Amino acid sequence: TKDSNGVQQVLLRNPRGASVKVSLFGGQVVSWKKENGEELLFTSSKANFKPPMAVRGGIPICFPQFGNRGILEQHGFARNRMWIIDENPPPLHPNDSKGKSFVDLLFTPSEEDLKRWNHSFEFRLRVALDFDGYLTMISRVRNINCKPFSFSIAYHTYFSISDISEVRVEGLETLDYLDNLQQKERFTEQGDALTFESEIDRVYLSSEDVIAVLDHEKKQTFVIRKEGLPDVVVWNPWEKKSRAIADLGDEEYKQMLCVDGAAIENPINLKPGEEWTGRLELSVVAST
Ligand code: BG6
Repeated sequence: TKDSNGVQQVLLRNPRGASVKVSLFGGQVVSWKKENGEELLFTSSKANFKPPMAVRGGIPICFPQFGNRGILEQHGFARNRMWIIDENPPPLHPNDSKGKSFVDLLFTPSEEDLKRWNHSFEFRLRVALDFDGYLTMISRVRNINCKPFSFSIAYHTYFSISDISEVRVEGLETLDYLDNLQQKERFTEQGDALTFESEIDRVYLSSEDVIAVLDHEKKQTFVIRKEGLPDVVVWNPWEKKSRAIADLGDEEYKQMLCVDGAAIENPINLKPGEEWTGRLELSVVAST
């Protein structure tokens, strides 16, 4: 399929009617729906679908830089580039294909990109939907240059929620975090699940591999399972920041929460010829 700007999108479906839509622009997942058709990812009503800006919502991939922690544009360039379908990807484990509907994408830097970030790489992304509606994203980054480089990555996942006041995040208790609202200073989280009453923009460090986002109103819980992604970004712009973001409605911050599997504090180093693999698996379960 194509979106209204002619950007190609790939639609994955499972036999029960769940679906995932991936855009070749940015390799961004732009929709993830349950069997009953309910959308699980937030997309702003003011989202701009016209490249070269990433769509406000879904799962943009921040790579090779997170935020402004480096010389590149905010969150790196991968989310603002066209990816291609990888017809013949190197094999993955058979379990990554079995019983799944999937697509393989590939991103390589352009001449222009290499002028600003002189490291040749291949970024392969598999997006898969399984019988139970689980969404899996497997990223493989290979250094095809003759010198080492390091990168950061985040799957900037915009979860669709009933209301920010109804949500809590479990799995980040007692962790250290870097607070982007306070010069990236380091703090330690308390023992309670995270709830939200104001703007938040943090990188939690070295978390367990399972994080839960509980929505009391919807009685549903998102479960994030990650591998190779030690850190977790939690972002909600709240009222004031939302007004400053052109492609986000003033009140829409209430319906979204970004919780990203990420590798930020310790960038990943790749020697020539080396490959890194990271996985993110998202599922949703009914809760009380
Ligand atoms: C967060 C950053 O993860 O992403 C914020 O820490 C930023 O500072 C937000 O505002 C959204 O970024 P962008 O570039 O998509 O507006």
